[in-house]
Amino acid sequence: MIKDYRFPAGFLWGSSTSGPQSEGIEAGDGKGMSNWDYWYSIEPERFHGQIGPEQTSTFYKNFAQDVDLLVETGHTVFRTSIQWSRLIPQGRGEINQPAVNFYRQVFQAIRERGIQLYVNLYHFDLPYALQEEGGWESKEIVWAYEAYARTCFQLFDDLVDRWITFNEPIVPVECGYLGTCHYPAKVDAKAAVAVAYHTQLASALAVQACHAHNPDKKIAIVLNLTPAYAKSQDPADQKAARIAELFQTRSFLDPSLQGSYPDELLDLLEEYGLQPQVTDEELEVIARNTVDFLGVNYYQPLRVQAPSLTYQEGDQLLPDHFFAPYDLPGKKINPHRGWEIYEQGLYDIALNLRDNYGNPEWLVTENGMGVEGEETFRDQGRIQDDYRIDFIKGHLKELHRGIEAGSNCKGYMMWTFIDCWSWLNAYKNRYGFVELDYESQERRLKKSGLWFKDVSRRNGFLEEE
Ligand code: BG6
Repeated sequence: MIKDYRFPAGFLWGSSTSGPQSEGIEAGDGKGMSNWDYWYSIEPERFHGQIGPEQTSTFYKNFAQDVDLLVETGHTVFRTSIQWSRLIPQGRGEINQPAVNFYRQVFQAIRERGIQLYVNLYHFDLPYALQEEGGWESKEIVWAYEAYARTCFQLFDDLVDRWITFNEPIVPVECGYLGTCHYPAKVDAKAAVAVAYHTQLASALAVQACHAHNPDKKIAIVLNLTPAYAKSQDPADQKAARIAELFQTRSFLDPSLQGSYPDELLDLLEEYGLQPQVTDEELEVIARNTVDFLGVNYYQPLRVQAPSLTYQEGDQLLPDHFFAPYDLPGKKINPHRGWEIYEQGLYDIALNLRDNYGNPEWLVTENGMGVEGEETFRDQGRIQDDYRIDFIKGHLKELHRGIEAGSNCKGYMMWTFIDCWSWLNAYKNRYGFVELDYESQERRLKKSGLWFKDVSRRNGFLEEE
């Protein structure tokens, strides 16, 4: 039997990227140093192949050609981000005029092609000058971000369909303050909580500023909603999953959508002496400025079990004191990235939003498969990435099921339209619909790019089942 996976009228099809992963740095472009630029300058060996953030997929130079490729791959929506350090090199104060020209040209080119444009203000990239002042650990950065957001609304709002405050704000918290794969790579739970709280406050202030600038404009936050699945029904495993979800998902989901933090999370912070410094006015700002819609990035589920580590007074507090990873036997996996593939997670997210968060409008803003050595799949000049098509189809089927069950999802954006630079992994894993020949900078459509164009045109796909 052939099943028609057709999506609701007006469903958006596209992809996401970020400024720091796609633009690159050109001589004379006036860009300031970001936390990533700085980190690479002092520890290049941390970056795969020692390829740093200045050598990304050269969108700064080649955006006109890349916008053509968006059309060729059927995009009706596209998300990118402004680099704060490009627009305001020192984080505060002077605006870099070439950056204004660049972003206006890019945004105009995208809009002229009839593609909806979603612009994110922050994708893990802080101007280094602000990092030196303490980065997100310092509340001062919140006001600097608010001023930056206001500047963006003033300069670009006429060209942007929808705004986004932050991409995956829990990631810099986890990786930069509880782990070591983002700068400043220190492990300090109290600092991690302060960073998370300041980011949430900054997000709410950007929502407020966006609406003050243009009451009709919609603004979201993008969260990586990795549902936490417990190893078993054992109460200790169940508790571990609940706490994992509190830390990793609900810490931003609840305040962003509902305007307040879960009581259980606040109790835990108090129990371990981790509360950030908050004022009633700030909590009021968070309460009053929830987002208009949500972006959801979904790559993998989080499988957890009861922790094996017990916290003792004086220990460095870690997530491992609350939950331990659980390696599900026989799980489906993308071996290149080491991430489990669990399509049903998207359905579970859809229903969680429907049932527990008042069924907000949302879009999938990232989902994708990074593969190493893709050139081995080249046949007759084209990378035959059937694995990527299967990956996307599998997730779209679950998304379709969630939408049929009433969840309010309005679009699907893949990560990413062209192979791009990936933080510490640089170009190891390729994610694009379009192949980037790193040496020659030549761009070539992959099979998935052609397939996606067809999906976008027919607003879904047919599948023999
Ligand atoms: C998302 C990020 O979490 O995952 C992207 O928003 C990132 O910036 C993507 O590139 C894929 O992860 P990675 O680490 O393989 O690049």
